[in-house]
Amino acid sequence: MGLYTVILAAGLGTRMKSSTSKVLHTINGKPIISYVFEAARALKPLQIVVVIGPESNGIQEALRDERVTFAVQKEPKGTADALRTASRKLVGLKTGKGTVLILSGDTPLVNPLTLQQLVTVHKRKRESLSVLSFIAGGDHAYGRIVRDGDNLTSIVEDKDATEEQKTISEVNSGIYAMESSILALLREVNMNRQKGEYYLTDIVGIAARRGYRVGSHVLGYETELTGINTRRELCMAGLYLRDRIVSKWFDKGVSFIDPESVMIDPDATIGMDTVIYPNVFIEGKSMIGSNCKIYPNTRVIDSTIGDNVIIKDSSVIESSNIQDRAEVGPFAHLRPGSIIGVSAKIGNFVEIKKSVIGNGTKASHLSYLGDAEIGDHVNIGAGTITCNYDGLNKYKTVIEEGVFVGSDTQLVAPVKVGKGAYIGAGSTITKDVPPMALAVSRTSQKNIEKWAEGKSDGKDKHKTK
Ligand code: UD1
Ligand code: MG
Repeated sequence: MGLYTVILAAGLGTRMKSSTSKVLHTINGKPIISYVFEAARALKPLQIVVVIGPESNGIQEALRDERVTFAVQKEPKGTADALRTASRKLVGLKTGKGTVLILSGDTPLVNPLTLQQLVTVHKRKRESLSVLSFIAGGDHAYGRIVRDGDNLTSIVEDKDATEEQKTISEVNSGIYAMESSILALLREVNMNRQKGEYYLTDIVGIAARRGYRVGSHVLGYETELTGINTRRELCMAGLYLRDRIVSKWFDKGVSFIDPESVMIDPDATIGMDTVIYPNVFIEGKSMIGSNCKIYPNTRVIDSTIGDNVIIKDSSVIESSNIQDRAEVGPFAHLRPGSIIGVSAKIGNFVEIKKSVIGNGTKASHLSYLGDAEIGDHVNIGAGTITCNYDGLNKYKTVIEEGVFVGSDTQLVAPVKVGKGAYIGAGSTITKDVPPMALAVSRTSQKNIEKWAEGKSDGKDKHKTK
C-alpha cells in the first residue's frame, strides 16, 4: 500500500501579523513551505497534496518546479476542514487503501528521518492513526496529548485545556500518519465554538472512541518540531537552523571564527579548509571552494567561488563566478554576471557588472567595469571607468590580452582596445585602439613659468578667509 502526503498550508497565520502568507516567510532565504515540501519529498510518496487558500499564488510559485497537487480550501475553517479538502484530491485513495502522512505547513525543521520513523512505527503497531508527539519545555500553546494509562484518548488544544491538562508535557507536533479509513471520520468533527474552526485534533478522540487503534509517539525533538506561528518563533527557527548548518560544515572541515554571526543558507556548499570570518552571509545556491578565506562583513549570493580564493572585508558578490586563486575586495561589489579569472585581483571600491575579467588581470582600485570583456594579464589603472550606458542602451567594452590601461581612463563603449596596447593616464577613449598602440587623449601639459609669483607675499598662500 502506498504512502500519500498532505501538507496543510491554507491557514491565515494571523499571529504573524503580516500581509504575506505565513508559510512564505523565509528562514535562511528559503520559504517555510519549501522546507516542509522537501521533507515530504524525501519519503518518496505517490502524491503530495498541498492545501492552500484562494489567494496563495505565492505558494504555487514557490513550488512551481515540483510534482505537487494543490487543493484550495475556500475558507480557513480549521485543520480538519483543510484535510477534508485535501482528501478529495488524493486520487489513488478514491478506490484503494493507503497511508496518509499529514504535515503542518508551518513546521519546517522536521527531519525526514523522524517522518520515516513515524510511518514505520505506525505500520509496525498496525495503528489506524498515529500522532507524532514531542516533549515541550517552557511556555507554549501546543495541543496536549491526553492518555488513559498508556492509551491515547484525545488531544486537547491549549485554549480548551484544563489547568491540570496544561501540565502535560507531551504535545502534538501537528504531524500524523493515518490510514485512509480515518479520513471518513472527518465528517464527524464538530466546529469548535471558541474558535469557529474544525480541529483535526478532534479526530483522535473520535477514532479512539470508535475502537480504532490510535497512538502517539515521542519521536522527534522540540527544536525540529517547533511550529512557526509568530515572528519570534520564525527567528528562533532561523537561529536553530543556522547552528545545524554550521555544525554540518564544521564536520566537513570548514572553520568559523564566530559561528553565531554567520548565516549559511541550506543549499550553499563550502569546501574543506575554508575559513569563514564573522558576519559573513552565504546565500542561495552559492558554492565556495576549498582553502578560501572569506573575511568579515561579506555577502555571497548565488555565486560560485573556486579554490584558494580570498574575499577581503565588506564585499558583496552577486550571481558571479570567481575562479581559483583570485582575490576580491575589500569593499568590492560584483554584480550579477561577473566572471573573475584565475589569479585575478579585484581591489578596493571596484564595481563589476556582467563582465569577464581574464586570468591574472588586475583592477586594484576605484573602478567601474560594466559589460566588459577583459582578457588575461590586463592592468586596469585606478579610477578606470567603462562608460557603458548612453541613457538608452548598454554597450560593450573589449580589452584584449596584455593591455595596460592608465589611471583615470574612461572607455566610452562600444570600444575595443587591441592586444598589448597602452592607454595613457587620464584619457577618454572613444575610438578603437589598435594592438600594441599607445592611445592618449588628454591635452598635453602647458607650464606657465612664474605664474604664481606676485599673487601674494608667499605667506599663507592658500588660506581661505
Ligand atoms: C496545530 C494543532 C496543535 C499542535 C500544533 C503543532 C490543531 C487544531 N492544532 O495548532 O494541536 O500542537 O499545530 O504546531 O490542528 N491550516 C489550514 N487551514 C486552516 C487552518 C490551518 O491549512 O483552516 C494550516 C496552517 O496553514 C498551518 C497548519 O494548518 O500550516 C496548522 O495550523 P495552525 O493554525 O498553525 O495550528 P496551531 O494553532 O499551530
Ligand atoms: Mg501552527
